[in-house]
Amino acid sequence: MTVTATPDSEVKQSTEKNSSPAYEVSGLEKIYPGRNGDVIALKPLDLTIRQGEFLSIRGASGSGKSTLLMILGGMAHPSSGQVLFEGKDLYQMSTGERACYRAQSIGFVFQMFHLAPYLNILENTLLAYHKRWFCSDDGKTPVERAKGILTQLGLQHRLTHRPAALSAGERQRAAIARALFNRPKVILADEPTGNLDPDNARGVFEALQTFHQEGGTVALVTHGEMGADYATREIQLS
Ligand SMILES: Nc1ncnc2c1ncn2[C@@H]1O[C@H](COP(=O)(O)OP(=O)(O)O)[C@@H](O)[C@H]1O
Ligand SMILES: [Mg+2]
Repeated sequence: MTVTATPDSEVKQSTEKNSSPAYEVSGLEKIYPGRNGDVIALKPLDLTIRQGEFLSIRGASGSGKSTLLMILGGMAHPSSGQVLFEGKDLYQMSTGERACYRAQSIGFVFQMFHLAPYLNILENTLLAYHKRWFCSDDGKTPVERAKGILTQLGLQHRLTHRPAALSAGERQRAAIARALFNRPKVILADEPTGNLDPDNARGVFEALQTFHQEGGTVALVTHGEMGADYATREIQLS
């Protein structure tokens, strides 16, 4: 398995070349030891993701896309190498500091949504609410803020529905609402449209695009062709 994220694999060039880096990744590698030998999940990778970029990460199944995103999300320790977020080494942080990074700086969107099945959509969005960190610059309560985001995503008529009562596209938009709740700097999305038809996929990409247009940074792992229309830069893991 060869992983390349060198400039010649950058299919599409970024327009945010002058902004400061959100992530600086160097020599990043992930190996899972196994009984029948090691599994190399991610071969050594250097990558810079600039603030305000919409980066699309592509590559065949098994090329390490999810592994990379999990490591960027502070959810999987690399075997070697370094991930700096705004100059701070994610894996030199204490567990508590890394939890703050996950809760405050990023929003993570999974292919399988990962909504709590026993909570309705409004309550699922409010899972991201932390009293200490909540800042409402527009005077809204947490519930009003959650309703506002869900309304922007076209879910105002679904607030009291549980995930099982929603379509896959609606579930994913609810997951995006939860990811947006804390005004993250970055959205990390791992094949968020993998289970959606093209119409619903478009709704998800448009929500990510709105976040990007408002200044957010996006790293999107995508299999299909559609995501490329929204990205400002594309890399390929092979
Ligand atoms: N927890 C794990 N233990 C062992 N191997 C793993 C584990 N997670 C992922 N892998 C392996 O690492 C490789 C990359 O996985 P992944 O990052 O999920 O790829 P992708 O998202 O590009 O399909 C795959 O060969 C996968 O089987
Ligand atoms: Mg994957």
